[in-house]
Amino acid sequence: MTRPTPTSGERSVRDDAFLVSKTDTKGRITYCNLPFIEIVGATEQELLGKPHSIVRHPDMPRCIFKLLWDRIKNKEEIFAYVKNMSFDGSYYWVFANVTASTDRNGSIVGFYSVRRKPNPKALKTIIPLYQELLAKEKNGGIEAAQAHMKQILDAKGVDYDQFVNALQRS
Ligand SMILES: Cc1cc2nc3c(=O)[nH]c(=O)nc-3n(C[C@H](O)[C@H](O)[C@H](O)COP(=O)(O)O)c2cc1C
Repeated sequence: MTRPTPTSGERSVRDDAFLVSKTDTKGRITYCNLPFIEIVGATEQELLGKPHSIVRHPDMPRCIFKLLWDRIKNKEEIFAYVKNMSFDGSYYWVFANVTASTDRNGSIVGFYSVRRKPNPKALKTIIPLYQELLAKEKNGGIEAAQAHMKQILDAKGVDYDQFVNALQRS
């Protein structure tokens, strides 16, 4: 499928909505709920079996997804702000929690994500931060962005999850 061109159109997650998706171990979508399907503006058939990057927005720094995958493959949960792209090119921000699902032996059988509406105040911090990270990636690669984020978090004495959870509660 050709990716749409990003537009300036914004979609908002409803105050009471939970956007849920599940993937297999490779990150291919195996389940998505109605609020997820609706905001993407797709059909269930267009989403099932597709890599989750089908909703990736080019404004998202790669280092956030690297952190996400490092965590969930290690069976640790992650909270993250993510800008996604609908099928018509419009964008929507979410506050996501992503976890691994394991079988009774502890082997990873897939991944699970629940997203809520982000605190608009938090986005005032996240949007410029992600722009900085993206610029670092363009010039110095993912390592430069990771180093930049580490510097910011270290100065605050927090990790990424503590940082975003505090923003979400602010
Ligand atoms: C359960 C789960 C949910 C995910 N949700 C999203 C999402 O909402 N948006 C997104 O861009 N990537 C999401 N990802 C990450 C994608 O798999 C992928 O790493 C990311 O889009 C970057 O894609 P790329 O490496 O092809 O650029 C999710 C991954 C998992 C396992």
